[in-house]
Amino acid sequence: MPARQGHALSPIPPADSAAPVHEESSQALKPFQSSISIGVQTTVESQELEVVLQKLALAVEDTSAINQKNGISEVKEARDRLQEALAEGRAMSLSKDQLAAAERQRRRIHNLYQEMESLKVDGNILEVTLTGDTYEFDGIFDTSSSQEDIFDSSCDLAQSALDGHNVTVFCYGITGAGKTYTMYGAPEADGLAQRMISELFRKVDMNDEKVTISGSMMELYNNHLVDLLRPIDWQGRQNPPLSMKLDKSGNVQVEGLAKERASEEHELQAIFQRGLEQRAVAAHAMNAESSRSHVLFTVYLTKEDSDRTSKLHFCDLGGCERLKKTEVEKDQDRKLEAIEINKSLSALGDVIEAIARKKKYIPYRNHKLTQLLQDALGGTAKALMYVNCSPSSATIRETANALKLANRAKNVVNLASEPCSPTSRGRGPD
Ligand SMILES: Nc1ncnc2c1ncn2[C@@H]1O[C@H](COP(=O)(O)OP(=O)(O)OP(=O)(O)O)[C@@H](O)[C@H]1O
Ligand SMILES: [Mg+2]
Repeated sequence: MPARQGHALSPIPPADSAAPVHEESSQALKPFQSSISIGVQTTVESQELEVVLQKLALAVEDTSAINQKNGISEVKEARDRLQEALAEGRAMSLSKDQLAAAERQRRRIHNLYQEMESLKVDGNILEVTLTGDTYEFDGIFDTSSSQEDIFDSSCDLAQSALDGHNVTVFCYGITGAGKTYTMYGAPEADGLAQRMISELFRKVDMNDEKVTISGSMMELYNNHLVDLLRPIDWQGRQNPPLSMKLDKSGNVQVEGLAKERASEEHELQAIFQRGLEQRAVAAHAMNAESSRSHVLFTVYLTKEDSDRTSKLHFCDLGGCERLKKTEVEKDQDRKLEAIEINKSLSALGDVIEAIARKKKYIPYRNHKLTQLLQDALGGTAKALMYVNCSPSSATIRETANALKLANRAKNVVNLASEPCSPTSRGRGPD
């Protein structure tokens, strides 16, 4: 236990002995009253000091064994206890040396708390332990969830697309959190897109439907659209370049975009794979990081007895990040890529917000990304958003922001349950 600081006050009589003189004194004793009174006060202070020092010492002792094996709530309690004891110590003007042991312990436990799981899942409720914010989602997948589990949560959308709805599946989240892995998979683990392609063809076969199916794939890099099914030159250019417009029914048309027919599942899978490979080529030609772009794989479905084509988009969004967190600050090209990604994601957030708040004007025109998705967000379209969260506590603030956007997206409701021409709100692409 730290040395008692109050020893310098010991000549002052203890509170008990001084009390009667102080309380019952006559006028004659007045000159002494003030000094005795100070003595009492100082003694009370020294007792308080003793209590605070004891509290600090106890807090240090009791929390010294806290480590990763303790639950996060225990670690938080320990940190709060030390913080409280330190605040009391500071209020009593304790010296740095007197606070040092508790301060060292507080820092150790604070770091431990930050290193520990920053996201806590309880059923469909997720808590960001660092900020205490809680979010309720339709489903939460933890580290034990497989690609199949994630697909199971969205496979019904294949039927919605076949029923004529425009459907979009997004993967959103900070850079490196697993968006591409979830959407487009890895060599040994098919992602949502590959699984959904199989599901579509399975449903078409099962229902014995006559449906024309085709696919396209494009990338939006630095506000520049690239067709991933067409060749690009060594500078990443294509002739003619892609351009967008809205048709009379409010559907987004990308002029110049290659849409390739697929009569069988393996043909659509091959189109998809070719697009992914071309993405790496495009990234190289443009000297870009492939993850610094949005990739949109789209399946078009037209039933024999219908003149309407529904779209099923798989939108692997580029990762949002804070500029100073990465090396991009030192590299101008990377900085521009990151700024453009952040701009587009903020435009997407604004569109989602406006739809959720049922605003009359939806700012689709603020970015090419939102123009591209105009007929897939709001109206009769169906959208499913996965928010990929990194387990790293170093990025917990960005993760918390991503969860906030997802929470807003949850409030978006369809205009009608029956598919029809998308309602054009706000102004579309020129
Ligand atoms: N659930 C997972 N299981 C195994 N590996 C994963 C998982 N999620 C992501 N990974 C791996 O982590 C790395 C980063 O994932 P990914 O590229 O999907 O992140 P991202 O969110 O798309 O990043 P960026 O924003 O930079 O595009 C990849 O090597 C990926 O294979
Ligand atoms: Mg990615």
